[in-house]
Amino acid sequence: MSVKDFHDTAMDYQSMDDIKEAAQYINSLTLDDLVKLDETEFRARARERVHHTLEQQLYRAAFDKKPFNIKQAEITKLYVDAWNKRGLSHSLPEYKQYEFLLESAEKLSKGEEIDLTPFTPKPITPELTDNFFTVVNERRSVRAWEDKDVPDELIDKILNAGLAAPHGCNVQATRFVVVKEKTTPGLFKLGNIPGGPVHIVLCQDMRCYEANNFTPFRNRLLDAGAAMENVALAVHAVGLAGVWLTFREVLHDELKKAFDLPDYIRLVTYIDIGYGAQTPMPTPKLDVSEAVLKRL
Ligand SMILES: Cc1cc2nc3c(=O)[nH]c(=O)nc-3n(C[C@H](O)[C@H](O)[C@H](O)COP(=O)(O)O)c2cc1C
Repeated sequence: MSVKDFHDTAMDYQSMDDIKEAAQYINSLTLDDLVKLDETEFRARARERVHHTLEQQLYRAAFDKKPFNIKQAEITKLYVDAWNKRGLSHSLPEYKQYEFLLESAEKLSKGEEIDLTPFTPKPITPELTDNFFTVVNERRSVRAWEDKDVPDELIDKILNAGLAAPHGCNVQATRFVVVKEKTTPGLFKLGNIPGGPVHIVLCQDMRCYEANNFTPFRNRLLDAGAAMENVALAVHAVGLAGVWLTFREVLHDELKKAFDLPDYIRLVTYIDIGYGAQTPMPTPKLDVSEAVLKRL
């Protein structure tokens, strides 16, 4: 097969008709429909709708100091009503955001200002910048580990970094399975690096994508890549070492069987981590001058 014949399906676009149909459907959902939806699907829809119908518009209006039409908050209100009718907890993180956005929408619609200063990021000092680039540039794939347990707190820190990654349309489909080699010896023997005291398998709850199937398909794997890159960097940042790994079909099937998860959970990729026992030479990467194809 020549390069000319190569068809990269990962870059396919949905047709405009399919997108329109899916968007029409999502906008036609009534309060009763939303209350009846599967909870994961409902929350994924809520995250996407609030993001696209209120969040972006509200910050824009606040920034432009332009009047805000309260009608713009209607879809979020609908989802919050459904949230309450379903009896979902008010301490879930997205609910707090919805409350803030609705409160801010009311203020802006009355010509009042909103205070975004509590959300100002920590000032970036030269030291923080250096630290960031040290982590980015000194991370490398390590394929041998000490026989030493990794504390769960470190694992959770790493997973939090994965969850902090950007996610297409704020769908937030990323899930994990954490496997300790000690508790399931040999489960990953079909991988090309059977070691790794801890294996972190990045999964996706496909119900989140199914609920938002007008969002670009390509985002699905990009979401996984963004999350896993954060994980890989966090592994290095907490003093551990790891290697991002690829499933072969047989390993994928073995894990799927062992994890006994529903079909809507997709196993995408995994990383083996632990206390590193080797310091390989960092892989030379392309120079910017070679990688930039054009500067227009
Ligand atoms: C998507 C992806 C899949 C990878 N799969 C494997 C793998 O199956 N086996 C392996 O030894 N390394 C794997 N790696 C690690 C790469 O070989 C490694 O990142 C690359 O050689 C560059 O080295 P560095 O990570 O030290 O910068 C994978 C990396 C990525 C991003």
